[in-house]
Amino acid sequence: MSYVTSALLAEKGFVILDRYDQSKDPEEWKDLEYVEWKSSGVTRFAPLASAKGEIEVNGFWNQEPPRTDKDGVWIESQVAKARNLARRAQEPGANVGRCRVIELQPNTYSDALYNLHQDDNNRLNPDGTGWIVRGFFNLTDDADSCLVLREQRFDPSTEIRIPLPAGAQVIIDTQRFWHATWHPGPEPRYNLITSWECGPALDAYIEKYHGSNDHVNPPLDQKVIDEGQESVQRRLAERATALADRDRENPDQAES
Ligand SMILES: [Fe+2]
Repeated sequence: MSYVTSALLAEKGFVILDRYDQSKDPEEWKDLEYVEWKSSGVTRFAPLASAKGEIEVNGFWNQEPPRTDKDGVWIESQVAKARNLARRAQEPGANVGRCRVIELQPNTYSDALYNLHQDDNNRLNPDGTGWIVRGFFNLTDDADSCLVLREQRFDPSTEIRIPLPAGAQVIIDTQRFWHATWHPGPEPRYNLITSWECGPALDAYIEKYHGSNDHVNPPLDQKVIDEGQESVQRRLAERATALADRDRENPDQAES
C-alpha cells in the first residue's frame, strides 16, 4: 500500500492555482481571535478548525488521543467572523485537518532560510489513505514576499520562490519541502493555511482552478543568496554552542 497523492503534487511538490479576487471580500482576518504561537518567525495564529474545536493550534498528533491531521473541528465563533475564509477552505470538499490564519511579522531572506522546516502533517496518517498537503491563500497584498521552498535545506539550487500578492493560491506538500516565508513587510502578512487530504476531490479542485507547476523564480541577487547561506550557518552554529553550554550547566535539562 501507499498513500493516495495528486499527480501534479507528486511530480513537483507544489501547485499554483488561479489567483483569487481577494479585493471583493471583507478583511475577515482582522476580526478573528489569535493565539500566541511562535512558528517560523514572529507569528500569531487564528484557528478556524482545530483538533477539538477549541481556539488552540497544536498539531493533532500532540493531542490526547494523538491523531493525524484530518477531521478538524470547525470553531463556530471563528467561522462566524470569517465566512468567506471557511467557505474557501471547504470548497475542494477534501477532508480538512488544521485550518488557520497565520500572522507573520516582517523578516529577512536570511530569517526565512533560518526558519526553513518540514511539516509533520502525515504523522499517524494510515497507509492507503490520502497524503496530507496544505493550501496557502495569501490574504494581504505582499507581492514582494514569497514562499521559499527547498528540496534540500542547505542547497539554494533547489530553491523555489513563489510570490505572494493578495489572492495567491498555492498547494504545497509541506512535508516534502523545507519551507518558510520571506516577508520584507513593512506590515504583517496574513495567510490562510488549510490541511487537505489528497484524493479525487482535491484533484478536481486543482483542475477547476487550472493548477500548474510551471514556475519561474523571481530573480534574486546571488549576493543576497550567498549572504543568507552564510548567515544561516553562523546562526545554527551559535545555537548549537548555546545549547551545548546550557546542557553543560544544567545536565538534567539536556535535550534528548
Ligand atoms: Fe510549515
